[in-house]
Amino acid sequence: MGDRSHYESIRNARISENKKWRKSRQTKTGCALIALKKKESTLTGYATGKHSLSSTLEIVMFSLFEEKKDGTNWDRNLRRERDMAREEQILGWAARDTTGVLSPFIFPKRATKGDDITLKILYCGICHSDLCTIKNEWRNARYPVVPGHEVIGVVIEVGHDAHKFKIDDKVGVGYLASACLSCENCSLDYENYCRKRVCCFNASLPDGTKTYGGFSSMMVINEHYAVKIPENLPLEKVAPMLCAGITVYAPLKHHGLDQAGKHLGVLGLGGLGHLAVKFGKAYGMRVTVISSRPEKKKEAIEELGADSFIVSNSAEQMKAAMGTMDGILNTSSGPLSLRPLLSLLKTYGKLILVGSPIKPPELPVFDLLSEAKTITGSMIGGMEELQEMIDFASEQNIIPQVEIVAMDYVNTAMERLEKGDVRFRFVIDVANTIHST
Ligand SMILES: NC(=O)c1ccc[n+]([C@@H]2O[C@H](COP(=O)([O-])OP(=O)(O)OC[C@H]3O[C@@H](n4cnc5c(N)ncnc54)[C@H](OP(=O)(O)O)[C@@H]3O)[C@@H](O)[C@H]2O)c1
Ligand SMILES: [Zn+2]
Ligand SMILES: [Zn+2]
Repeated sequence: MGDRSHYESIRNARISENKKWRKSRQTKTGCALIALKKKESTLTGYATGKHSLSSTLEIVMFSLFEEKKDGTNWDRNLRRERDMAREEQILGWAARDTTGVLSPFIFPKRATKGDDITLKILYCGICHSDLCTIKNEWRNARYPVVPGHEVIGVVIEVGHDAHKFKIDDKVGVGYLASACLSCENCSLDYENYCRKRVCCFNASLPDGTKTYGGFSSMMVINEHYAVKIPENLPLEKVAPMLCAGITVYAPLKHHGLDQAGKHLGVLGLGGLGHLAVKFGKAYGMRVTVISSRPEKKKEAIEELGADSFIVSNSAEQMKAAMGTMDGILNTSSGPLSLRPLLSLLKTYGKLILVGSPIKPPELPVFDLLSEAKTITGSMIGGMEELQEMIDFASEQNIIPQVEIVAMDYVNTAMERLEKGDVRFRFVIDVANTIHST
């Protein structure tokens, strides 16, 4: 990926962005320091007295807010985000070209207007679609791209017409940032199939504002595209539900593959696949994982609760399962061969494609008509079903299996994701790590 000089130029740009960002923060915090100096006497008694007030505001703030026992120190960070919200700039990590290498990037924060809310981003999952986009594999990258569409945040600003959420609510944002809300699909709550849908990153809102995703400190979003996160779901693990979760939940429901006793095949055991296994088991289905990696068998069965496991390139194992499945959900990002998969289905069985192979597969028409099989596709889900899915996950205790990483680990995480080396989703601890990069 790229030569040495390319990496050096990215590194230099990153250092210079960092410097610019720190400098602007210090200039702005200078005004706040004057105000704080006036209140110096009231600060006595806090640890503040031990620090020089000519230092940055961050040192002063550190002493004003008690460190939480779990070390997250959210109060301090939240206050800093509110300051940044006023300063109207956001720190994100962006890819600038097809190498997909991410580095710090500052962009303007749009105003929290009408029914918008502003979130301080706490966590963001890394979806395979982020990887495809930053490397321009789908030929649609609009650099600089700040990816991230599995966003968990806390509301820090509410527009005057926003009524769904209040300050401090914990919310999730997925793929969608806008839709027309008046077409047939929108009126059926399928905003995900609106022809005017806009993604929360790598896209533009109807007023021309560019969207930047969740690998950033804040996000402004119309409240319609945010969902409430139930209290019992651990915030650091729930992010993958916002894309991976809904992408498997919606098609299983729409195609009747949510019924106890039915046999579901899940092709590809990654971020989407592992959640499909969990949903299938929550519905009381028999679930078989079809994977290219035999070493995933133990995790599939012992940790995720799958009933059986097939290695996709084992002709013997594939033959033994022929004609047994009511439906298969393809969550693999790899090349797709339809014939072997169709052979696993019963008559009238359904093959649902959510994974997006770069090269389109050949269509085996005779295999379809000879046993009345269906091939269909699905893309994320509507806003109502996104909330429904999160609430169902909360009731059924469906929690993604994640590896939590720091913001500056993101390039390594992307390389590992590309190699399939993650169990089963990376989640970036944005709030606790983005400002130290
Ligand atoms: N339709 C939608 O709305 C939607 C939404 C989100 C994502 N997606 C797409 O869904 C796919 C999966 O996303 P994800 O985030 O779950 O990805 P992921 O975590 O990387 O998992 C993909 C899985 O695909 C299999 N795979 C990857 N490369 C392969 C190869 N060369 N040959 C065979 N199998 C390979 C692996 O499973 P095994 O090791 O078990 O074979 C891997 O774990 C991606 O194509 C993504 O773009 C679609
Ligand atoms: Zn996604
Ligand atoms: Zn619409």
